[in-house]
Amino acid sequence: MSSIDTRQGSVQHPRRVAVVVETDNPRLIKESKNILQHIKTTTQPGDVTLRFGERGVELHSSNQTHKKGQRVDFLPIVHGVRTLSKKQPLPKAIGPYTSVVDATAGFGMDACRLALLGFSVTAIEQSPIVSAMLRDGIWRAMENSTAKKLLQDNLRFVESNAIDYMNNHSPDVIYIDPMFPPKKKKSALPPGHIQMLQAVVGFDDVEATSSLFQTALRSATKRIVVKRPTEAPCTGENPIALYKSKLVRYEVYAPFSK
Ligand SMILES: C[S@@+](CC[C@H](N)C(=O)[O-])C[C@H]1O[C@@H](n2cnc3c(N)ncnc32)[C@H](O)[C@@H]1O
Repeated sequence: MSSIDTRQGSVQHPRRVAVVVETDNPRLIKESKNILQHIKTTTQPGDVTLRFGERGVELHSSNQTHKKGQRVDFLPIVHGVRTLSKKQPLPKAIGPYTSVVDATAGFGMDACRLALLGFSVTAIEQSPIVSAMLRDGIWRAMENSTAKKLLQDNLRFVESNAIDYMNNHSPDVIYIDPMFPPKKKKSALPPGHIQMLQAVVGFDDVEATSSLFQTALRSATKRIVVKRPTEAPCTGENPIALYKSKLVRYEVYAPFSK
């Protein structure tokens, strides 16, 4: 077992991740070697364990390694495709456009939903750990004929800092879903998969979100959509539309150049 320190870039307070490899699958061995090469290793024990095993690439809370871990799994979303609709707040915020860059892919759930609704989605993720989980999830989705048919033409994944990507591409719409800082009230803890993601990547501070937003305003040709908690102030000054759901709000902005 090795431990890796995920503290890097603009994110704040991620925890230490232990890496366990329990497979001889060449695809997973390659991913684990890539992780260990690209991130600084430490000798301290991890708070969270990244396991390469028979279920793919999974994150476990270190005190619950016997239970099923968190992995990227698009199949439940694909099987629930009939519950998706363009009348829901996020697709309404994206609007009638085709090419969407999801600048903050995370576990790819929003990107997958948008791809299933027919948008052409490029999902960008900068964390090497989350990227390995996304590649694993996409690999398993492509092994399923229904998921392959519905996703293979509409969902692409790029491991990159989204700022670099946006500086070199001009999609119709850029979608930003930053990692919100943790709430103070314990009763307001985010869902389990977001807590796990937060443990690995930390949260985005105001400057990190602002850099993403300013770059998106220069790069998108039609719209920028930002997801925010309902109680948070707006990211920019003049949203052209707001679409609300119970816990979050989607803010829509016009790009600079248009
Ligand atoms: C809240 S999560 C996104 C969740 C995602 N919308 C979903 O449905 O699963 C935010 C993600 O954005 C990533 N991220 C933050 N800043 C980034 C950047 N500049 N470039 C690429 N990824 C970034 C973080 O590593 C994290 O995985």
